[in-house]
Amino acid sequence: LFALLVTAANGNTEKVIFLAPASSQHSFPISSSLLESFDPNVLSPNRSTARKALPVAFPTTDTPRGLEYWYLLRHLNEAQRYEVRVCWVASQPTEFWLDVFELSNLPPSSPAALEFKRLLEDASASSTRETSSESVLALRVQAAADFYTSNQTLMQYPPPVNLDIILDPYFANVFPTSLGPTAVYITVLAILGWYISDWIWSHL
Ligand SMILES: *[C@@H]1O[C@H](CO)[C@@H](O)[C@H](O)[C@H]1NC(C)=O
Repeated sequence: LFALLVTAANGNTEKVIFLAPASSQHSFPISSSLLESFDPNVLSPNRSTARKALPVAFPTTDTPRGLEYWYLLRHLNEAQRYEVRVCWVASQPTEFWLDVFELSNLPPSSPAALEFKRLLEDASASSTRETSSESVLALRVQAAADFYTSNQTLMQYPPPVNLDIILDPYFANVFPTSLGPTAVYITVLAILGWYISDWIWSHL
């Protein structure tokens, strides 16, 4: 009966797994008007998910991976394994590419990357900055619309994709912490199943 009540949620996911780099000296503002446009693009263990409607574009020869977005991953634990996932609804076919970069090693190529660098520099120069030693990474999300329709409007203006971006630390560097409840559930089910089937069998 319970199974009949469950509704299916069709989603896709793409992820990148990485080790947090060694801490180094950075200065970012705690909060400032300058960073207001940028702040939603910061993920940290304290604010590990962001829900967005991300504009996407069809790939062109100049931009084979559609549009590009940059996020700052802050306050990571040095040498801990993390994953970043994007999860989006399956009714909005999109192709995603995720990459992480150290701040000293950003690819110079795209306008979005240059804009990201400029924001970081402005942020470091602002007056209300905090200087701290922390482990940070830059996350690049590239998103290209991945569908075909005879509807010309949709082909010209693909709708923004609703998605969650999730920063998930690994438990003991082995499996994602968010899988913990599922692991507990399966273990409890297996143990109960063992004893209950034994009990049912003896009664039969
Ligand atoms: C094409 O898609 C748009 C956006 O969903 C919709 O408003 C429009 O009615 C569609 N056009 C046709 C011809 O189906």
